[in-house]
Amino acid sequence: MGSPGLTKAVAKMRDAGVDEVAVQTFAHYYRQLERGETGMIPESTIDPVDIPSIQDVEVSEGEAHAAIGATAVIKLNGGLGTSMGMDRAKSLLCVRGGLSFLDVIARQVLHLRQKYDVALPLLFMNSFRTSGDTLDALARYTDLPVEGLPLEFRQNMEPRLLAADLSPVTWPKEPSLEWCPPGHGDIYTALRGTGLLDTLIEQGYRYVFVSNSDNLGAVPDERVAGWFAASGAPFAIEAVRRTPSDRKGGHFATRKADGRIILRETAQTPPEDQEALQDLSRHRYCSTNNIWFDLQAMKDALDARDGILGLPLIRNEKTVDPGDPSTPKVIQIETAMGAAVEVFEGAALIEVGRERFVPVKTTNDLLVLRSDVYEIGSDFVLDQVAADIPFIDLDSDYYKLVGEFDKRFPEGAPSLRKASSLRVAGDWTFGHGVQVIGDVELEADGAERVSPDAVLADGSSASR
Ligand code: UTP
Repeated sequence: MGSPGLTKAVAKMRDAGVDEVAVQTFAHYYRQLERGETGMIPESTIDPVDIPSIQDVEVSEGEAHAAIGATAVIKLNGGLGTSMGMDRAKSLLCVRGGLSFLDVIARQVLHLRQKYDVALPLLFMNSFRTSGDTLDALARYTDLPVEGLPLEFRQNMEPRLLAADLSPVTWPKEPSLEWCPPGHGDIYTALRGTGLLDTLIEQGYRYVFVSNSDNLGAVPDERVAGWFAASGAPFAIEAVRRTPSDRKGGHFATRKADGRIILRETAQTPPEDQEALQDLSRHRYCSTNNIWFDLQAMKDALDARDGILGLPLIRNEKTVDPGDPSTPKVIQIETAMGAAVEVFEGAALIEVGRERFVPVKTTNDLLVLRSDVYEIGSDFVLDQVAADIPFIDLDSDYYKLVGEFDKRFPEGAPSLRKASSLRVAGDWTFGHGVQVIGDVELEADGAERVSPDAVLADGSSASR
């Protein structure tokens, strides 16, 4: 089968009972990793994309209703939120008023079922690390499961590889750290391998709407469903306009060679093209990871390739114990769901408003979500009540990990509705009822407190 590392990894997967197509998929990407493939996409090989906006397209009520009635919703929930210091699903975190991401997602869907009078099944893609907690947290929603469909399906697991020689790492102290989920691109392998792709088709569903469980803006919207159905596209991604803070991230483009839409990530951009990557007037759109696909088209594409879509490889480097930087470096072989856009001829993009893209990647994002920048109404949809989303930059020494962050906001987030920016350098703990107005900077050498009900006003910078 190849190198000793691959042979060992494959044997380890088979011993653990991993689906054979998932084993072959892993082997496919392992060989790419071994060859040192970088998947670079030079600027000279792509053109910028020009796409329609959901605001401008006409969708009839009938089309929209029929489309949402044929849609199943999937939430990606297999990741561990390691960048926020978590080793559990991020969606278990409290958003506000005692409700977690999972609660909000469940209630959004239950509300839409009533509103549209449709089945709208909700399925979570969990990993071996997130399944138990997630199902426990959802158990209270007894009317959430739809007859004949599970509430979750499990993604595959694969060995983490020692960076030194690409052999599977052994870590007897905590054997679960020897494994990882293979990134959200695994959704296609997992849907097919678990038989769910066939089940959904047999039950008469035609479309799937997939999004991250950490994006509460990703509501299964009737109009977008209607647009997707009418487009006849096999696969589509909701895009937003890039802003200066997205400059360093990936973007959509068209591949000159075959006219296909692709996603180009920063790591796939050669150094000499980094300037073009960051040119917001040239490459105007980035991905929300809100994805629509036609179930039959996906089945056909997978079957035609023996279950291996062949997405660009992502080499994700971590330490075996994420909490201990002195432990050996490991590599996780991953793929991204959105990269499947290039597999489908006739794939489409649609521009949507920023309200459909509210990802929580850092505790800075979490602070905004927990604050009064948003209200959550009876439909459980986030309603941005502040004129603008403030820029937040909390000192990573004290706030990066969610446990540390929570300690410093014991009474919840301050009011940020009138804030433009909040920059915190040093160790500040916030009392109850603090209000931030305009641009505020805090600096401290030792541990400091912002008193309850303090108003931190425009231009004020407290430094102690
Ligand atoms: P991210 O990679 O952005 O978030 O995944 P994460 O995995 O939660 O966080 P880090 O990188 O460890 O800090 C985006 C979405 O994809 C899901 C995550 O649960 C999140 O909803 N995901 C990610 C999976 O379902 N499976 C994976 O293997 C990876």
